[in-house]
Parts: sequence; structure tokens; C-alpha cells
Amino acid sequence: MSGTDAHAAGEAYDATPYVPRRGGLEAHRRAAAGCKGCPLFKEATQTVFGAGDPMARLVLVGEQPGDQEDRQGEPFVGPAGRLLRNALKDAGLDQEPVYVTNAVKHFKFTVAERGKRRIHKAPSLREVAACKPWLDAEMGMVDPDVVVALGATAGRALLGGSFRVAKDRGALIPMPVGESCDRGTEEAKRHILATLHPSAVLRSDDREAAYGGLVADLRVAADALH
Ligand code: URA
Ligand code: SF4
Repeated sequence: MSGTDAHAAGEAYDATPYVPRRGGLEAHRRAAAGCKGCPLFKEATQTVFGAGDPMARLVLVGEQPGDQEDRQGEPFVGPAGRLLRNALKDAGLDQEPVYVTNAVKHFKFTVAERGKRRIHKAPSLREVAACKPWLDAEMGMVDPDVVVALGATAGRALLGGSFRVAKDRGALIPMPVGESCDRGTEEAKRHILATLHPSAVLRSDDREAAYGGLVADLRVAADALH
């Protein structure tokens, strides 16, 4: 059954059938390369799976790959990634092993009428929900102590639809840890911290203030880890 036909027939968007039941990050990365859980695989170049240290205590979650990430197959290798690395450094996290991923693993875009420039388009709630099994699997395998949600899409994917960046950013929020890991105690709880998306900083009228806010939020994550 091709994903295309399944979606044309009105089947739900869902990555679950493509997610391996066992195996580590590499097995998942290979399987995700063939995911047709929603229609976004059709126009994008490739799946951009998470990357980084599989033992990291800190996981950063973005929205979806951008133009550069789609071409190179790695998360946060474009302008947003550059800004993010600077912000991590300014927050004292440059020595901290990290695993970086996105709520949605395929680039969604429209093509400008003239020319070939591909313009980022926000993923729909259905697409975010469809891709969530990959994010859940990554969280289960890496098992971080702190998860940083970069922007509203990541926040909603991890905390649900009532999440708002403006209201919820900058605070450590206890996060339910899935059944896939066996920490049961209160103190072993995982925390999530939401902040601005680095692309929102790049687009901001007051870039310096927005960048300062991102760094201040990341310092809260740094304090939780140290
Ligand atoms: N923006 C994201 O959310 N993720 C990336 O990987 C790149 C840009
Ligand atoms: Fe699968 Fe996610 Fe890509 Fe949709 S965006 S095809 S669910 S990997």
C-alpha cells in the first residue's frame, strides 16, 4: 500500500506503522527514511531525523526541517541552527552534550510563484500528530532530563494544544515520562522548558531583545542540568 493511496482514501495520518518495535536510534533513523505517515514525504527531499548524542541529558526540539536541513538531511544546519548554537554557548551550554530533533521530520513549503525559492510553511496539527510517534520514540531512547521546546509547534507537540509560548516560556514544567522508561520517582521527573524558536528571533523587529530572551530561557535549562 503506498502512502499516497492511503491518504487519498482518507486514512488517518500516522507514522506508527513505520516505527520499529525494537532497535536503537540508528534503526529508527533508517526506518524514518521510508516514512509515509502523512503527505509531507512527497515534496520534501528526505526525512530529517534527530541527531546528536544519544546519551544527552538535554534534548532540543524544533518545528520541522528548513530548506538547508531538507537538502543536507540534518537538523538545524541552516541560519536558525547557527543562531541556536550561539545561544547555547551564551547560555553556558556549549560543553553540554545535546540531541537535536524536530516535531515534524519532513520540510513543508510552498514555492514562490516566480523562481524556485522554497518558503517554509507551518505544519498542520494533523501532521504534527502524525509525526509524534517518531518524537516519542526518540524521547524514549535518549531519555533526557530536560527537553527544550523551541517555539509553539514543539510546545504543542510535547505539551498539548493549550500550550502558548508567551504564557508558558522560560519555566521548567514537569513532564510525564512515558512507560518506555522506568523512572518512577518524583525527583527523577523529566522537565520541559519552552522558549522562542530561533527563526522567530531572526524574524523579530528587536532581534537583540528576542535573542536575549532565548538565552535567558536556555540558562534556566542550564541551571536545571548543572
Ligand atoms: N527550524 C527548525 O525548527 N528545525 C530545523 O531543523 C531548522 C530550522
Ligand atoms: Fe512521516 Fe513525519 Fe514525514 Fe509525515 S512528516 S511522512 S509522519 S516522518
